[in-house]
Amino acid sequence: MALPSSILAGLLLFALTSAQTDNGNECSCFITNGSSAGYFTYHRFFDYRNVSSASATPPTVISNEINATDAFATSDYFLNDAWRNDWTIQNWNNSDSMTSTDATELMINSPNNVYIEKSDDTSPDYTSYLTLRTSRLPSFQSAAEIDSNEQNFQFLSARFLARVIGSPGACAGMFTYLPNDNSQLVQEADIEILTAGPRDMVQYTNQPSQDANGNPQAAATVNGTNPGMRDWTLWNTYRLDWMPRMTSWYVNGESVANISFQVPRDPSSLILNMWSDGGSWTGNMSLYDEAYLQIQWMEVVYNTSGPYGGASKRDESGAGGVLEKRKGTPGCKVVCSVDEKVNVTGTPALLYNNTGMAPGGWKAEGMGSLVWLPVVLVGGAVSAYL
Ligand SMILES: *[C@@H]1O[C@H](CO)[C@@H](O)[C@H](O)[C@H]1NC(C)=O
Ligand SMILES: *[C@@H]1O[C@H](CO)[C@@H](O)[C@H](O)[C@H]1NC(C)=O
Ligand SMILES: *[C@@H]1O[C@H](CO)[C@@H](O)[C@H](O)[C@H]1NC(C)=O
Ligand SMILES: *[C@@H]1O[C@H](CO)[C@@H](O)[C@H](O)[C@H]1NC(C)=O
Ligand SMILES: *[C@@H]1O[C@H](CO)[C@@H](O)[C@H](O)[C@H]1NC(C)=O
Ligand SMILES: *[C@@H]1O[C@H](CO)[C@@H](O)[C@H](O)[C@H]1NC(C)=O
Ligand SMILES: *[C@@H]1O[C@H](CO)[C@@H](O)[C@H](O)[C@H]1NC(C)=O
Ligand SMILES: *[C@@H]1O[C@H](CO)[C@@H](O)[C@H](O)[C@H]1NC(C)=O
Ligand SMILES: *[C@@H]1O[C@H](CO)[C@@H](O)[C@H](O)[C@H]1NC(C)=O
Ligand SMILES: *[C@@H]1O[C@H](CO)[C@@H](O)[C@H](O)[C@H]1NC(C)=O
Repeated sequence: MALPSSILAGLLLFALTSAQTDNGNECSCFITNGSSAGYFTYHRFFDYRNVSSASATPPTVISNEINATDAFATSDYFLNDAWRNDWTIQNWNNSDSMTSTDATELMINSPNNVYIEKSDDTSPDYTSYLTLRTSRLPSFQSAAEIDSNEQNFQFLSARFLARVIGSPGACAGMFTYLPNDNSQLVQEADIEILTAGPRDMVQYTNQPSQDANGNPQAAATVNGTNPGMRDWTLWNTYRLDWMPRMTSWYVNGESVANISFQVPRDPSSLILNMWSDGGSWTGNMSLYDEAYLQIQWMEVVYNTSGPYGGASKRDESGAGGVLEKRKGTPGCKVVCSVDEKVNVTGTPALLYNNTGMAPGGWKAEGMGSLVWLPVVLVGGAVSAYL
């Protein structure tokens, strides 16, 4: 397959800027602990704890539908490549899907509800965090969602230091997502916190949670209690391990759920949202009430099925670009941990260095994008991507 050099250069740049690792560039793979332990090729750490441009006052809620939809980013932070390479702030609404769901409110995702907030907590550990806000207004529910630009996660371990505060009637979500027009074919592994629910309970689900007749799929979900019955209004580390045969969840390092039913199979993205639609899942928020999902940091170790999917708008319909599956070569020169032995949050710890071992030991596999790129070009995915 011959590609023009301009396209090659573009792909090279894309590979270099997207398939990155950080705080672990010397590592060739990353291992996780617990019963869902695994090896992963990539690592990302997203840190919102010390953003100097954080705002002491949240953006004023926009009460007009069109202006909420078209709102600008709340700060330059979201215009920088460091943010935009990884995340896309959403502004879709549920008007198309209202008839097919039990939603009773028009819900509009507004970029105005995604902001870096200056902390007034008395903690030396952080001065800011990322906030996703939802607000019930007279004519609609204003909501917040960010989607990963990486659409081809295929297995991951994601951790979120998060808290949820605010009024009943909203849902905070942190989940993997593969859309489908047919709701029975949607694939998701979810962490969901309902602000109307008990303050120590979190819902873990491999979607769909209902069968085609609308009956609950009991095997798809666990209504979990936080270890020590800790409130979700407090900071907790939620961990989602999407593995080939099981999804496992942990809170503050303790196992809270394992679900082997309906485990997502195909390449997916990662989504965070704070929403309500007046339906039976979230319930209604009272007029002018608000609720917030706040994140200090997120850490994700993952594999991908193929090239980065690129920025896309989520519209709850249409299959996202599902690219051909591809297995990487096993082998890892420098093995790092994101759990055991980690001293600094977000910085993987070196466990073993197999560099220089004779062939037949660990097979050396470069982590660099230059090595990764030919793998991208070999498959049929290039045409899918272009
Ligand atoms: C691993 O070992 C090689 C060869 O001894 C060395 O060059 C490299 O710096 C080591 N890597 C790390 C992360 O320690
Ligand atoms: C994984 O390691 C971390 C850090 O040592 C620990 O806090 C956590 O409990 C461990 N998790 C499991 C499931 O063993
Ligand atoms: C945030 O900045 C403060 C002051 O500069 C520093 O003491 C603290 O260690 C930083 N925290 C993180 C998580 O970087
Ligand atoms: C919407 O935004 C425009 C431009 O900023 C402003 O002129 C207008 O008053 C806003 N509309 C409402 C209903 O707030
Ligand atoms: C909702 O989104 C649709 C596009 O999907 C758009 O046509 C419509 O104007 C939006 N509605 C509101 C109230 O923003
Ligand atoms: C989870 O269980 C609690 C306690 O039994 C219950 O109040 C809550 O409604 C349940 N949540 C869901 C989503 O079923
Ligand atoms: C999840 O599975 C592991 C391994 O079997 C087990 O140790 C753990 O207790 C399970 N967690 C729950 C919440 O059942
Ligand atoms: C939410 O309020 C609407 C009326 O505004 C009502 O029709 C609907 O049943 C309520 N939803 C729930 C889950 O209570
Ligand atoms: C991730 O990819 C590496 C390299 O191909 C492989 O060894 C590892 O098993 C994969 N991890 C998962 C969870 O599939
Ligand atoms: C973590 O701290 C321990 C004890 O201070 C030290 O021995 C170890 O090398 C540190 N690990 C890393 C990855 O920095």
